Amino acid sequence: MDNISLIGFMGSGKSSVGKELAKLLPSMELIDLDSYIEAMTGRTIPEIFENDGEAAFREMEKSALEDIFMTGDLSGGSYILSLGGGTVTTEACRKMIRRNTTCFYLKASIDTLVHNLETWPGDRPMLKGGKSLRSRIEELMASRGSIYEKTAHHVVDVDSDDYTSAAVDIISLLD
Ligand code: S3P
Repeated sequence: MDNISLIGFMGSGKSSVGKELAKLLPSMELIDLDSYIEAMTGRTIPEIFENDGEAAFREMEKSALEDIFMTGDLSGGSYILSLGGGTVTTEACRKMIRRNTTCFYLKASIDTLVHNLETWPGDRPMLKGGKSLRSRIEELMASRGSIYEKTAHHVVDVDSDDYTSAAVDIISLLD
């Protein structure tokens, strides 16, 4: 089976849907790009942002994808890739994702994102700063929304779905 990738804003459920997909497709291996980068660097994502900044983190995302798709031990297999919310802001990453995976955009409304990120805030450097959570989400979505749409092969609405239904929807869309 082809590789599957999940893209979408922070809090849209990429990691959770990835886990559901991995249960339903046991022959595929689940890779969470943030975890992959943390293992690759021996540092946490917040540490990388704090010490090196966003641009350096975007380079690491690109190197990690190159590793996964081209040079690493993983290049032969079949993977479910749960990507970071900003991975697709890098053109080279978008190209690799479209070429090497069937890409699904987990599309959530601003209300859903606010709700999910208030419920499970995590440690997310891109949401730090003086602004309210909603206005920061709106600001980032204004620049990212069209990028998610144009990168994905399929869009899955996750506002009303639970994560298992989203995974089932994704499987039904595979060739
Ligand atoms: C980011 C999203 C995060 C992580 C990093 C940057 C972003 O992943 O890659 O903090 O720019 O949207 P999640 O979408 O899994 O939270």
